[in-house]
Amino acid sequence: MGYKVVVVGATGNVGREMLNILAEREFPVDEIAALASRKSLGTEVSFGDRTLKTQDLDAFDFTGWDIALFAIGSDATKQYAPKAAASGCVVIDNSSLYRYDPQVPLVVPEVNADAVMGYTAKNIIANPNCSTAQLVVALKPLHDRARIKRVVVSTYQSVSGTGKEAIDELWNQTKGIYVPGQEVAPSVYPRQIAFNVIPHIDVFMEDGQTKEEWKMMVETKKILDPAIKVTATCVRVPVFVGHSEAVNVEFEEHLDEAEARDILREAPGCLVVDKREPGGYITPIECVGDYATYISRIRQDQTIDNGLNLWIVSDNLRKGAALNAVQIAEVLGSRALRKG
Ligand SMILES: NC(=O)c1ccc[n+]([C@@H]2O[C@H](COP(=O)([O-])OP(=O)(O)OC[C@H]3O[C@@H](n4cnc5c(N)ncnc54)[C@H](OP(=O)(O)O)[C@@H]3O)[C@@H](O)[C@H]2O)c1
Repeated sequence: MGYKVVVVGATGNVGREMLNILAEREFPVDEIAALASRKSLGTEVSFGDRTLKTQDLDAFDFTGWDIALFAIGSDATKQYAPKAAASGCVVIDNSSLYRYDPQVPLVVPEVNADAVMGYTAKNIIANPNCSTAQLVVALKPLHDRARIKRVVVSTYQSVSGTGKEAIDELWNQTKGIYVPGQEVAPSVYPRQIAFNVIPHIDVFMEDGQTKEEWKMMVETKKILDPAIKVTATCVRVPVFVGHSEAVNVEFEEHLDEAEARDILREAPGCLVVDKREPGGYITPIECVGDYATYISRIRQDQTIDNGLNLWIVSDNLRKGAALNAVQIAEVLGSRALRKG
C-alpha cells in the first residue's frame, strides 16, 4: 500500500522535477494529483511512463490525501498550504514562507532528518533555499569532525533558481545579442543576465545584504548549528541549471585537506571530484540531472590556523528543491506515515 501524493506547482521547474524524482526513486505512490493554476488546467505533465493532466489548485480538496509537495511562490503558498495542512495532508513546502517559523521543521535529510518529526505542530515541513541545501550537505560531515566557527560563501546561482520566466529571459537575451533588432531588455532581472553576472538575488535588506544572503545565514543556523557564523555574497550567473559556491570555512580544530577529502568521500549525498589538473573539478553543466552535491578544489586556507577552501556544485532544481522534498517525504513515510 502506498501514499496519495499531490504535487502543487506541477507545471513549474521544481514541480516537474518532483514528478520525475518521485518516479525515479519509486516512491510508493497509490494515487497522484498534479496541480497548478487555473490557466494550466489540462496541461499534460509526465510522471514516469504516465501522463497526468494538471488540475486547478483552487478547486482541489486535499481531504484524504497523505502528502502534498508544494512548489509555488510564497503568496500562493500562504493561501493554500494551511488549507491542505488543516485537512490532514502533510505539506512539504519549497517556498520561503515557513522556513523561519519555529513551529515548522526546516529539513535537509542528510543533516537533520530527525527534525522531520516536528511536522506535527502545523502539519508542515519546510525545504530550504537551494543554495543553503547544498552548502549544509557538504558542511555537516566537516562540522562533526572539527566544529565550524565561520563560513564565507560566494554563490554563482543559475537562472532556473528564479523560475520558468528567467530561463526564457536568458535564452532570448542570448539569442537576441546575435540578431540585430532582436535585443531583449531585462525584465525578470534588473540588469542584462546574458553574458553578465548580477550581484543581487531577492530584495535588499536594511543592513545592505540581500534576502538571499540573509537566508543562507539563518537557514544554515537552523539546520546545522546556531553557533556557526555565515556571511554570503549571492550572485546570479548566466547558467541555466546548477548552483556553484566558493566556500571558505574556519574550524575550531585543525582539519587537514586530505582528511577533509576522505570525510567528504564517505559522507551521505556528497561526491568528491578533486584532481589538481585541468578539468579535474566539477562545473554546473556536469551536475544537471544528478542527486549529488559535488565537492572540488578542497585545499588548505594558508591565511588562518584552521581553514579550508571548497568548491561546491549541485543541481538546484534537484538537491536544492525537488530531490530534497522527496527525501523528506521518504523520511516522513518511514518514520511517521507508515503504510502497508
Ligand atoms: N527553482 C529553484 O531552484 C528553487 C529552489 C528552492 C525553492 N524554490 C521555490 O519553489 C517554488 C517554485 O519555483 P519554480 O522555480 O518551480 O517556479 P516556476 O517554474 O515559475 O513555477 C511556478 C509554479 O507555481 C504555479 N503557481 C504559481 N502561482 C500559482 C497559483 N496562484 N495557484 C496555483 N499554482 C500557481 C505555476 O503554475 P502555472 O504554470 O499554472 O502558472 C507553476 O506550476 C518557489 O516558491 C521557489 O521559490 C525554487
